[in-house]
Amino acid sequence: MKRPNLAQSRWLITGATSGIGRAVALELGKAGAKLLLTGRRQDRLEQLCEELSLAGCECSYMVGDIADAAARKGLMAAVSERLQALDGLVNCAGVGAMGPFETADEERLRKIFEVNFFAAVELIRASLPLLRNGQRPIIVNIGSVLGHCAVPLKSEYCASKFALHGFSDALRMELRPQGIDVLLVSPSTTDSEFFDAAIEDRVQKNWKGHRPMSPQTVARHTLRAIRTGRREIILSVGGKALVWLDRLLPSLASRILSRLGR
Ligand SMILES: NC(=O)c1ccc[n+]([C@@H]2O[C@H](COP(=O)([O-])OP(=O)(O)OC[C@H]3O[C@@H](n4cnc5c(N)ncnc54)[C@H](OP(=O)(O)O)[C@@H]3O)[C@@H](O)[C@H]2O)c1
Repeated sequence: MKRPNLAQSRWLITGATSGIGRAVALELGKAGAKLLLTGRRQDRLEQLCEELSLAGCECSYMVGDIADAAARKGLMAAVSERLQALDGLVNCAGVGAMGPFETADEERLRKIFEVNFFAAVELIRASLPLLRNGQRPIIVNIGSVLGHCAVPLKSEYCASKFALHGFSDALRMELRPQGIDVLLVSPSTTDSEFFDAAIEDRVQKNWKGHRPMSPQTVARHTLRAIRTGRREIILSVGGKALVWLDRLLPSLASRILSRLGR
């Protein structure tokens, strides 16, 4: 469904304290949307809300750990009270982990899934009544190219993003009769705080061979996709090439990608 005009539309954005979530908030603010932002770092939310308010955007925030069910309940109560309904939900909060699977523990796997998958999908479940009361409502899930093709040493992260990908595809069909869209955004490597915030980083950040995108570029593409009614976008030429190579020539793709683990 196209939504060329986002003025006055009401949005909840998770992961708004840095990187892609912050950039999406700024783009939506520029478009005249009303925002409720969340993340764990209060100073960041305060600063962003101030910046957005100075630019004329109606904006508020709520601090909380998105993986905590009680915090999500509080967040939904705030959305209901402050915005009454939702025209958009952006699930951007996410965390990574790098390193071999065997020597990592269960806690790492569960933490990744709690934030990247369970929090996002439970927030969707809780948001549906408010989205149903919205105008041309849309759920935007920030996935990853690694939710389309896997790489070594990021097994838990890949699994969480594959899960979000499959969930988004299924839910899109389920919600279509209700007029609720689901957009899956799959960025490639993006220059944000993501790599510093990774739970465990046993592999050095290695951007050799691919230039990271900026969060602003990801946000601009996301806004364009929301406006034009896209259901899925894969960002960057390299990301698209990788996904198509994996679909058409999976053995070759796997030979190339397995080198990333050496
Ligand atoms: N950077 C990349 O290369 C890349 C590539 C593809 C996809 N992505 C995806 O893009 C999304 C945004 O990542 P980014 O690159 O913008 O990284 P980022 O700068 O590290 O942002 C991550 C955001 O998630 C929030 N977050 C993490 N754990 C949370 C928790 N338990 N509760 C609440 N909020 C939490 C962080 O806020 P607080 O720390 O304040 O809580 C922060 O706002 C993620 O889903 C990521 O998987 C990133």
